[in-house]
Amino acid sequence: MSNRMWGGRFATGPDAIMEEINASIDFDQRLWRQDIRGSLAHAAMLGETGILTQEDVAEISAGLKQVQADIEAGSFTFSRALEDVHMNVESSLKDRIGAAAGRLHTGRSRNDQVATDMKLWVRDTLDQLDEQMADLQLALAEKAEIHAGSVMPGFTHLQSAQPVTFGHHLLAYVEMLGRDRGRVADARERLNESPLGAAALAGTSFPIDREMTAHALGFARPTANSLDSVSDRDFVLETLAAASICAMHLSRLAEEIVLWATPQFGFVRLSDAFSTGSSIMPQKRNPDAAELVRGKAGRVFGHLQAMLTMMKGLPLTYSKDMQEDKEGTFDALQTLSLCLAAMAGMVRDMQPDLKVMKKAAGMGYATATDLADWLVRVLKMPFRDAHHVTGRLVGIASERKIGLEKLTLADMQAVEPQITDAVFAVLGVEQSVKSRVSYGGTAPANVRRQAKRWLKKLAKG
Ligand code: ARG
Repeated sequence: MSNRMWGGRFATGPDAIMEEINASIDFDQRLWRQDIRGSLAHAAMLGETGILTQEDVAEISAGLKQVQADIEAGSFTFSRALEDVHMNVESSLKDRIGAAAGRLHTGRSRNDQVATDMKLWVRDTLDQLDEQMADLQLALAEKAEIHAGSVMPGFTHLQSAQPVTFGHHLLAYVEMLGRDRGRVADARERLNESPLGAAALAGTSFPIDREMTAHALGFARPTANSLDSVSDRDFVLETLAAASICAMHLSRLAEEIVLWATPQFGFVRLSDAFSTGSSIMPQKRNPDAAELVRGKAGRVFGHLQAMLTMMKGLPLTYSKDMQEDKEGTFDALQTLSLCLAAMAGMVRDMQPDLKVMKKAAGMGYATATDLADWLVRVLKMPFRDAHHVTGRLVGIASERKIGLEKLTLADMQAVEPQITDAVFAVLGVEQSVKSRVSYGGTAPANVRRQAKRWLKKLAKG
């Protein structure tokens, strides 16, 4: 039997393999809410403009609401023979109301319909991701406020660099997530134009009102070019790019948690709720959730790459290749959502070991820069010379396997005679972080202020 929706010129139905490769219903059925919402708006507009009678529109709307109720109740059967969500919904409408159902597709095509559905779905998902990002920011900022003055090592090249505070470190991620949310907001704003009514590609001869459907669906305006409307998937790409950058940020934090939770670092203890054991090694507490957040980032990036590659060779306008936008997008955004939730849980439960962190902060001559700065400030030495003198002192201490603060004044004066014992005051890690008062620096007072600023901003929503 030929296809009930478009089979007019076909004598027979598709080969089983044709049906299998062509059908998208297995994955696009999740667009049913958006599809029905779009159809309701389209039908109402067809009525308002006099293209359909109000009786037809009333029947169509009532029928669509029945379809909706059946899907919600789980009593709707999606059929592969009907290819996709659009035709499943419309075919079921026809079973319910008969002839009027066939009038719903006046002045539209599946090409503008699918673009509209997908935009509506992506828009809803962006809103939900934004909320989750804000929740993770909140978890981080709350911990940051508590630990504004908790000293930990700061690294470059994963080598001891300068002491920082744990709160400062956590707030770095709050900033990253702030930019991630900015990208989400940008993507949302740019996608918010309605393709509905672009029809197959060229527009329609019916006197439709695209402003009306755009408005009904919460879009700022209709898209301006019908060809662009049905062939644009920028909104998917931009969303996946924003999702990828956020996933990359989560992955970096996950990597740090993995390191921090090792017995060798010992900076944090993950809760039982976010750790797993080993089936053979009884002592293990593995940070599986963090590892999975790190691992899943690859999946999100992969979907962005797949989508760029899928789109790059397509001539205008719609090609069936574009049906491939769905599974990857759904998977990428669902993955990001799961990672955000797992990360918020881990951060809330994570207990830092302040003693271990502070001790580690002093390792590796982390206050050498403080010594050099002292030479500049007190002895008026040019920084380059101060760097050299400090380097020599570090060399001596390192040969003796002791910290800089364990050198005697005589040791110091042997390298630079003008040094006085006032220098010892700047060699402690607490003193070091306290001194970093420049805007954006790690001084606890700064960190406390920044944490409060974020908490206030997040409370406002
Ligand atoms: N299932 C299709 C998709 O997801 C809907 C659009 C089909 N359009 C067409 N001309 N065959 O892209």
